[in-house]
Parts: sequence; structure tokens; C-alpha cells
Amino acid sequence: MSMGEPNAVHPPAIEDPRKRAMLLAALYIAQEQNGWLKPEAIQRVAKRLELSEGEVKSTASFYTMFRLAPRGRYHIQVCEGLSCYLVDGAETIIAHVARRLKIRSGETTPDGRFSLEVVQCLAACDLAPALKVNDELYGHMTTGTIDALLEKLHQS
Ligand code: FES
Repeated sequence: MSMGEPNAVHPPAIEDPRKRAMLLAALYIAQEQNGWLKPEAIQRVAKRLELSEGEVKSTASFYTMFRLAPRGRYHIQVCEGLSCYLVDGAETIIAHVARRLKIRSGETTPDGRFSLEVVQCLAACDLAPALKVNDELYGHMTTGTIDALLEKLHQS
């Protein structure tokens, strides 16, 4: 299992390496059950491993693979990988989607309709700049095609 890119510079300090490994596995399993880590799941994991809820939560927020909020109905993954970056798209596309939805990567709109995640590569480099909405891939994106796509999703 990949832990994803870290969200912060330093990992939380849980000194026992066995406990740290068990914590990551437990968080992974807990997230599988609901698609995100509910507060109750954080509490259960903390109790089971005899850690504080703060230690568990800070570990979960350190790794991008863990979600502390549910995903939106439309989960938008925008690529910031090298190919998308080199066509001068990644930064523009990410900023535009974030501005339009008023959320940052890892967040969900208050109505639960959209969530945004910046990812490293969608394996669609020939379509750069690319993004995905749930399982559907969109390529050669511009601010104009994003506006049209978001409008369509708002109406569906
Ligand atoms: S770098 Fe963007 S799809 Fe591969």
C-alpha cells in the first residue's frame, strides 16, 4: 500500500516503529470501510493502539492517502505531473478549479458536490493537461473547457 505524498515536512512523532506501522495499517483499513476517516474511526484506532486521538489524527493528516472528510459526489483529480506541468497547464488548471469551486486540494465543497485532489500523474500524459472526474478522464484542458465541464456537473 502506498502512503501517498506527505502533507507536512515532518511526520508525527510516534517512537515505537511497530506501533507506527500498525497505526498506518489500521488507518488504511478504517478508511476502506467508509471511504474516509470518520471521527469515530479515529477514536477507535486511538483506543485500540493506546495512542491519543491527536497522534492518530496528525498521522492521518500527514499522508495524502488518508481523507479526514468525505469526498464529493464529483471527485476531481487534477494532475500536476511533469507532462501536465510542461505544457504550462498544471498550475493554471489547479488554480482555476480551486478558484471556481472555492476549495483547495483535499477539500470538499460545503454542499458535498465537489472535492478536489491534486495528483502526480493520471497516466494520460499524452492528453496533458489532464484531470479526472470520478473515473472519467478529460484531456487537453483549458480554463474554458473546465468552466463548461463544471457547468455541466452543476446541472446534473
Ligand atoms: S503528468 Fe499529467 S497525466 Fe501524466
